[in-house]
Order: sequence, then structure tokens, then C-alpha cells
Amino acid sequence: MPTLGVNIDHVATVRQARRTVEPDPIAATVLAELGGADGITAHLREDRRHIQDRDIRLLRQTVRTHLNLEMAATAEMIAIALDVRPDYVTLVPERREEVTTEGGLDVVAGGDRLRSAVEQLQGASIPVSLFVDAEAKQLQAAAATGARFVELHTGTYANARTAAEHRQELAILAEGTARALDLGLRVNAGHGLTYWNVQPIARIPGMEELNIGHSIISRAVLVGLERAVREMKALL
Ligand code: PXP
Repeated sequence: MPTLGVNIDHVATVRQARRTVEPDPIAATVLAELGGADGITAHLREDRRHIQDRDIRLLRQTVRTHLNLEMAATAEMIAIALDVRPDYVTLVPERREEVTTEGGLDVVAGGDRLRSAVEQLQGASIPVSLFVDAEAKQLQAAAATGARFVELHTGTYANARTAAEHRQELAILAEGTARALDLGLRVNAGHGLTYWNVQPIARIPGMEELNIGHSIISRAVLVGLERAVREMKALL
């Protein structure tokens, strides 16, 4: 069965809504690890809409499992990664106007730039994962960059409406995993995974780690709300 990487960006999103100090993603990370998280994922976006530079530096000091830094393949982010030294980096496409990452990298079109990013990071002993759709041409291009891992984009699977679409997207991901393994890549997956749709993905042979954020943080708000209200009520 795959390990679980908990994405803590959404905790920072709530904090940034008020530009205050709570909830602190560092505290959330300690609790996630107590709960059994095998790794912590944080996306430092160019626009700093949720995770801040301070978070990444503190996470590096406090994460006891492994820290996966998600980022765009820009000179600024590569410099930060080389300085902070996460356990691995996941390169993702980033568009300013998007609500969240909308799809995999186009490794076919962006091959040279991505190869150079992979070389700089892996040359400094930071393994790189490329977030891609499970398409043969993208997987071949990913392998050609020398990246150690791919993270298969599960967003289309998560958005499937009918049982037939769901089966089809699952088959694409299973086939993509087998292909990536054949190409010598290690395979993670993520985006849009929930308590309802995760198990078929977790059963794909060779799947190493699933990165899950929104659904876990959403559930945390609901399972924690009753206690939080009781604690405030006790103060009144
Ligand atoms: N993997 C990647 C590459 C992502 O960009 C995200 C979202 O930040 C995730 C996994 C987690 O997605 P979700 O929050 O939908 O679980």
C-alpha cells in the first residue's frame, strides 16, 4: 500500500485569509505526523497565496518524516530549494489565475527547461518528481529528464461523473503507473483524492505515495468544530 503525504497548504490558506498567525501550518504538521502522516507536502507558490517562505524554512527544521516541496520550475524557486534542501521536490505547472493546480506539466513542450531544473536539483542530491498526466508521451519525456519520480495527476479521475468514466480514468492511471515503472520512474499520485475515491488508487500496484490535502483538511474542520465551539463556550 502507498504511503500518505499530507498537503498542509489549506491550513495556510485559512491563516492568509486574515493575514494572522493561526492556524499555523507548522502546528498542523506536528499533528499530521502524530496521526501517522508519512510525509508532508507544501506548495510555495510564486504569489505566496498560502504557504510563506517562513513556513518552508520552519518545516525543514520541524518535519520528522519527509518534506516534499511543491514548486514551479523557476530560478527563484530552484534557489530556495537548493537553500532549504527538502527531501524531494515536486515540479508543478503554475498559473496565477488558477484556483489550484489544474493539470500536469507539459514535459514534452517544456523538456529543456525541466531537464535543467532536474539537473540542478538532483545534482545537489534533491530527488525530483514531475507532476504529469498519465499519458505515454508525458511519461517518456519525464523519464528523459532524468527525474527520479513522477506524480500522476488524479484530478480527472476525481472529477469523473459516471461509473464508466471512473473506470476509464482508473484504468488510465493504472496503465500509466505500469508504464512509468517500466521506464524506471518511481510513482506517486495526487490531486482531488478523497475519503470516497482514494482506495482504488491506493490499490494500483507499484503506487508509492499519495499526496492528499483538501479532503483531509476539510474533514479536520468538521471533526474538530464541535470541540472548538465547546472550548469557546466554556470561556463565556
Ligand atoms: N499533488 C499536487 C501536485 C498538487 O498540486 C496538489 C494540490 O496542491 C495535491 C497533490 C493535493 O491535492 P488536494 O488538495 O486536492 O488533495
